[in-house]
Amino acid sequence: MRTQILIIGSGPSGLLLGQLLGTIGIETVILERASREHVLGRVRAGVLEQGTVELLEEAGAAARLRAEGLPHSGISLAFDGRLHRIDIEALTSGRHVTVYGQTEVTHDLMDKRDAAGLTTIYKAANVTLHDFDGKAPFATYDKDGVTHRIDCDFIAGCDGYHGVSRKSVPDRALKTFERHYPFGWLGVLAEVPPADHELVYANHERGFALCSMRSTHRSRYYVQCPEGDRVEAWSDDRFWDELRRRLPEQTAASVVTGPSFEKSIAPLRSFVAEPMRFGRLFLVGDAAHIVPPTGAKGLNLAASDVRYLFAGLRDFYRDKSMAGIDAYSGKALARVWKAVRFSWWMTTMLHRFPDTGDFGQRIQEAELDYLVHSRAASTALAENYVGLPY
Ligand code: APR
Ligand code: PHB
Repeated sequence: MRTQILIIGSGPSGLLLGQLLGTIGIETVILERASREHVLGRVRAGVLEQGTVELLEEAGAAARLRAEGLPHSGISLAFDGRLHRIDIEALTSGRHVTVYGQTEVTHDLMDKRDAAGLTTIYKAANVTLHDFDGKAPFATYDKDGVTHRIDCDFIAGCDGYHGVSRKSVPDRALKTFERHYPFGWLGVLAEVPPADHELVYANHERGFALCSMRSTHRSRYYVQCPEGDRVEAWSDDRFWDELRRRLPEQTAASVVTGPSFEKSIAPLRSFVAEPMRFGRLFLVGDAAHIVPPTGAKGLNLAASDVRYLFAGLRDFYRDKSMAGIDAYSGKALARVWKAVRFSWWMTTMLHRFPDTGDFGQRIQEAELDYLVHSRAASTALAENYVGLPY
């Protein structure tokens, strides 16, 4: 088989890239290790920057998002027993974020790909990349006991942190940067109305908590938990009690409890691999970088990589220009590092670290107090939260 762009991974990065390329007649094949059901079973963050929504629109995959997504014009920071609202819209000349689950984004993109009759090969085992440092790259994979080969012009490595693409690059060609955070996030999904109409990020001496949502009747909540905690140790009752203890009284009183239908613990880390291009192989999204979820930048960064790569590939096929492809890694990384900084800063300001202590807690509170009372500081948060320019 032959295609123009071979995409590894059918997460949001791979699907969005495939959809955009499809709109301008560039052929793609997606090779995915897991099944479609497995990909759709993952629960992830749910806050989309305005630029991400616009890109989904350009890809023709925003109809349901427009109908069901919740536009949010602000967030609240909770500390010192009170909510402090950051009016994102007022601080960013009318911009807002949209709350819409990443699982739904993936669903919409998969439906679009099916409707367009584009090829995704699920359950492709042992995907191996070949000759991407030359002019004729190809990949091999196993399916149903047979080894197959796909030739292509370029390979887009959209296969997440654990994928094969980054691992195919020789160590000496790659520089990686990493920061580990000594705690996890315990997350719960429940069919209950959210405690607040906007997101609440809480700093508390017992640890961080977040009130989020998927819709007006489905809530997503998180509490910071010790590293190594097992989800079995957290009954629903224990979770709801801990969440409410970390929220201001008024917000805690508005928490509607109910049985959780998803509960999981995620570790937190920052990771960046440089560069993001090796000859005819590109790294895109989680394959190249991971951010802690504080600030919800993971999917938005994946979308910004896709935007730069799409533009580069479009110019290559339309104008025979390598300029956009040559600029891809540099442009993508400049935006990645700003989001890595923002997520690290939000994480540092809002969580209880083993060495935070009483002094550290007061410093965090002073920083938060400054943040909500200084227009300059609030604006810095707002413009990062809503998404920096491309
Ligand atoms: N071969 C083929 N497919 C693979 C391989 C492999 N060796 N390894 C991983 N994959 C697939 C995974 O099964 C997954 O479906 O690649 C896909 C990668 O998807 P994501 O991990 O969702 O990564 P990405 O599309 O970059 O999305 C970034 O999703 O992970 C979140 O928080 C992250 O919000 C961010 C966004
Ligand atoms: C979520 O809704 O899952 C979510 C929202 C905001 C974040 C992280 C996660 O910062």
